[in-house]
Amino acid sequence: MKSIREMDAPIGLAFFFGPALVIVIIMLISGFNTVSAIVALALVLFGLKYMHTSIIGKYKIMQSVVSNINLENNCKILDVGCGHGAFMLQFNKQTAKISEIVGIDIWSNRDQGSNSIEATQRIIDASSLASKIKLKTANILDAPFNNNEFDLIISSLVLHNLKPFEKRKEALEEISRVQEQKGQLVIIDIGYETGKYVHILEDLGYQNVNIVNAGYNGWWGTPLVPTFVITATK
Ligand SMILES: C[S@@+](CC[C@H](N)C(=O)[O-])C[C@H]1O[C@@H](n2cnc3c(N)ncnc32)[C@H](O)[C@@H]1O
Repeated sequence: MKSIREMDAPIGLAFFFGPALVIVIIMLISGFNTVSAIVALALVLFGLKYMHTSIIGKYKIMQSVVSNINLENNCKILDVGCGHGAFMLQFNKQTAKISEIVGIDIWSNRDQGSNSIEATQRIIDASSLASKIKLKTANILDAPFNNNEFDLIISSLVLHNLKPFEKRKEALEEISRVQEQKGQLVIIDIGYETGKYVHILEDLGYQNVNIVNAGYNGWWGTPLVPTFVITATK
C-alpha cells in the first residue's frame, strides 16, 4: 500500500542536498576546508529539517488544527488539493458528525511524491473514514460544485503552488463560492505571501480571519520558509 507520508515537493530536497554534495566532492578533490565543511553540514541539516516538516511536522500542525475545530452535525467537508489525504484523514475521531468529505486534486507529482487518485483511494479504503470520503480529479480554479455546498473547507500546502499570485486569488474566490454561509475555512500554506490571503478573504466576506505562524514544525528547511495557518468563518 502507498504511504500517506509521501514527500512534499521532493525537488525541494535537491536545493539542500545537491549543493552539499557538490561541496563534499570539491573537498575530496582539493582538500578539507573548515568553512566549506560547515556550509555542507548546515545544508544537510536544512535538508533533514525539510524532510522532518514533510513527514512529521505538518501532521502535528494538522492534528493541532483539527483538535480546535468543532464540527456541526451533518457536516460536509471539502479538502482542496488533498494529495494522499493527510488533512482529511485527521477527522477520523469525528466521523459521526460528518456527512461527506470530498477530496479534490490534480495529482501533481511535482507537488507530492507518488501522487495519484488510485494511490489515495487505497489509503482511504483502509481508513475508518472510507465510507464518507469521495475523491475527484478537479482543479480548484474550476471547482465542479454548486454554490454554498460545503460547511467546512480545508486545504493544506496547496495554494502556494498556484502561480502567478493572481491564480491564488482566483482559487480563494472559488473556495468562497462553494463555501456555505456560516461555514468554516482552514488553510495551511507556505511562505510569507500567505499573509495576503487575509485581506482577500476579508474582501470575500469572511469574518474572524486569523493567521498564525505554525513555528518549528512548519519550517521547510529553515525558518525563512515558514508555514502559516489561516482560519476564518463565512
Ligand atoms: C504539497 S501537496 C499537499 C497535499 C496534501 N494537502 C497534504 O498536505 O499532504 C499539494 C497538492 O496540491 C495539489 N494541487 C496543486 N495545484 C492544484 C490545483 N490547482 N487544484 C487542485 N489541487 C492542486 C497537488 O497535486 C498536490 O497533491
